[in-house]
Amino acid sequence: MSTLSVKFNPKSDAPTVNPNVYGHFAEHLGRCIYEGFWVGEDSEIPNTRGIRNDVVAALRELDIPVLRWPGGCFADEYHWKDGVGPRENRPSILNTHWGRVVENNHFGTHEFFDLCELLDTAPYVCGNVGSGTVQEMMEWVEYISSDSQSPMANWRRANGREEPWKLPFFGVGNESWGCGGNMRPEYYADEYRRYNCFVKNYSGNKAYRIACGANSGDLHWTEVMMERAKDHMDGLSLHYYAVPNGWPPNGSAIDFNTKQWAEVMKAALHMGTLLEQHTAIMDKYDPEKKVGLIVDEWGTWFESEPGSTPGFLYQQNSMRDAVLAAIHFHLFHGYADRIHMANIAQTVNVLQAMILTDGARMIKTPTFWVFEMFKHHQGGQVVELEVEIPKITVEGIELPAISISATQKDGVLTTSIANLDPENDRVLELPIGEVSEVRVLTGATMTAHNTFEEPENVKPIAGSYESVNGVVQVTLPKYSIVTVSSKH
Ligand code: AHR
Repeated sequence: MSTLSVKFNPKSDAPTVNPNVYGHFAEHLGRCIYEGFWVGEDSEIPNTRGIRNDVVAALRELDIPVLRWPGGCFADEYHWKDGVGPRENRPSILNTHWGRVVENNHFGTHEFFDLCELLDTAPYVCGNVGSGTVQEMMEWVEYISSDSQSPMANWRRANGREEPWKLPFFGVGNESWGCGGNMRPEYYADEYRRYNCFVKNYSGNKAYRIACGANSGDLHWTEVMMERAKDHMDGLSLHYYAVPNGWPPNGSAIDFNTKQWAEVMKAALHMGTLLEQHTAIMDKYDPEKKVGLIVDEWGTWFESEPGSTPGFLYQQNSMRDAVLAAIHFHLFHGYADRIHMANIAQTVNVLQAMILTDGARMIKTPTFWVFEMFKHHQGGQVVELEVEIPKITVEGIELPAISISATQKDGVLTTSIANLDPENDRVLELPIGEVSEVRVLTGATMTAHNTFEEPENVKPIAGSYESVNGVVQVTLPKYSIVTVSSKH
């Protein structure tokens, strides 16, 4: 078994990981909002004002810092006024992007802010540029955040909410280069400036403004947005899904071989290339790093589960997803001085979900456990590492053997490692003196996942380690994720 040695080089001026890097995304898509979060007050599934209690309790274990809503592509066809007032009076619409199912608008602004309060998470609302008006967008922000005697604030009061909500994050359109309006960046940059101009701050609330950013490798989009609109935004987004072998999504989430394992690892590592390229452009226009990079959609995208509705993007989740998530977080930590937020797609029942539900039943996925194991990284100061990471070749695909990152916070050093090798264990030597805890996430096979019948196939267990003269030797099982906490 090969041994890797790590050296820690803490620096007092190193950046901290913005907690919002561990953010989430919930869209009106498939069974994410309806069934996943919202079951309605009359449901037999235990709920609080219509929001299911089991899902809230599970997600509270993750300390979710921020939740993006209502889309995604849905955001640019969402008319918020349909989703306020007595539910029986709300109109039904067609969700044209996602299966053309009927959207009854029972989950709207009040329900979303209620969910955020139950989760103790910051709301990130994405507004409609594609098919909505400037007036509609400006009135939504007034409705949410104004405490004056204005028409929108009074309408909110009439609908049962006296106090304004805090609106910390607001997105001006989603994927405006695609489902959000098929725009060119030159056109969207102007549209962004116009819409943003009328989205006022009310009653002491200052919303962090997020402009729609590039589709994965579209560097021209980032260039144009930074050149023409950087002074009008707080953050610029980036969307990238790990889809090996190109669009459309191909391959099963749980039935795969070692080649398909390696292809997904490679697709995950491509996020590193994208971060390098997009941040280089941002550095050129904004060397002081005022504008944040907001990776507000990322994750795996496989073929939908057999038997599920195709437009619902329901997929299972294995150790492969877990390792991909760990790789992403380690890459995000490497750009902590620029990345202000990231939002995995999506929280429940859609794409790389934390939670899957089936009627009253609920399971936690391997990806859930990565968020849980990594939560001590939130707000931690990045610690530089020296380690020679060997290359491995899996079915002709070259990969680094491991992915690793460390942060320190509140006197605790947290080191997390993912073993990308589907066939070999490794040993890691860490000069950390005393260990507080070692946790390991792995399974019986690389395709291991949780099911409604076997919900605990994959969950963290105590890891094995030996400590000799202040050097701790930790075993990294194949296809695993390990966290090591130590006092410092
Ligand atoms: O997350 C699913 C979809 O992926 C989102 O609606 C869209 O923004 C992206 O293309």
